[in-house]
Amino acid sequence: MSRPKLFSTHVLFDEPRRRLAEHFDVEYWNGNERPPRAEVLKRVAGKDALICLLTEKIDRELLDAAGPNLRIAANVAVGYDNIDVPACTERKVAATNTPGVLDETTADFTWTLLMAVARRLIEADRLARSGAWRQWNLDQLCGTDIWGKTLGIIGFGRIGRAVARRAAGFRMRVIYNSTTRAPQEIERELNAEFMERDRVLAEADFVSLHVPLRENTRGLIGPAELSKMKRTAFLINTTRGPVVQEAALVAALEQGTIAGAALDVFEREPLISDGLRRDNVVLAPHLGSASIETRTRMAMIAVENAVALFSGKQPPTILNPEVLREK
Ligand code: DGY
Repeated sequence: MSRPKLFSTHVLFDEPRRRLAEHFDVEYWNGNERPPRAEVLKRVAGKDALICLLTEKIDRELLDAAGPNLRIAANVAVGYDNIDVPACTERKVAATNTPGVLDETTADFTWTLLMAVARRLIEADRLARSGAWRQWNLDQLCGTDIWGKTLGIIGFGRIGRAVARRAAGFRMRVIYNSTTRAPQEIERELNAEFMERDRVLAEADFVSLHVPLRENTRGLIGPAELSKMKRTAFLINTTRGPVVQEAALVAALEQGTIAGAALDVFEREPLISDGLRRDNVVLAPHLGSASIETRTRMAMIAVENAVALFSGKQPPTILNPEVLREK
């Protein structure tokens, strides 16, 4: 019996590759660079399943190119702003993501960035390795304290809460805003206080963003929001770049409206505005979930979603379960 055909836009890792080989005839994109759009459109044609990264747009054009056999687009990411889910639903294509396995790793990285920008780690490393460090000095590369400060979290889902949990060790006050308030036992456990977004912006020493990218969060942090922050405060973004209006952030940094920023994500990745290349900004190329354990788990979830669908089961993390009911 012929096996379903799957195209994966990345080579993945050994364990998910072994699992895929048990069930599918798999074609991988092997290039070091992400596949050009034309290549994705060509290779997805006639496939039954697709495993994709957040860099691939799963839209009507791609679904047309795939043709009627396609039954699943399995994203190796929790964020799925790259997938037109309604368009998938119309074509009865299951869309899946990878929730629940990257929260702690992304929270670790949020703290990595927060600490790096507060204690000027990147500047320090640059000085130390340049050979230009001559002597210990009382006022050299002084940063700002983290312990005892106020951490403001915008978006209090799994990742926002994992970030909050880590604040206890720094004896920080935690304040947050979210579309829905967390249950009281969570607030108590994390010692987190709910408040209006503007108050979070105004009172926090570190504002960390954890909302997903949706139409109502695109450009959420613009000139008005930045102007509400303390001049001594830092903005940390590990969610999606377009949540912040990058030009407004550059202007705020230039004008000293805020003290600095630590950014893992950007409005037009992989482009980074020149105005962000400053000493008081720490930059990372979208690495929040990038530990080998977590990235392997993410790939495995995508694979298990595809395997489940072709075994007649509901993919565990399906975004549009209605496609199964309608089939
Ligand atoms: C996601 O999963 O959405 C991240 O941005 C990459 O891990």
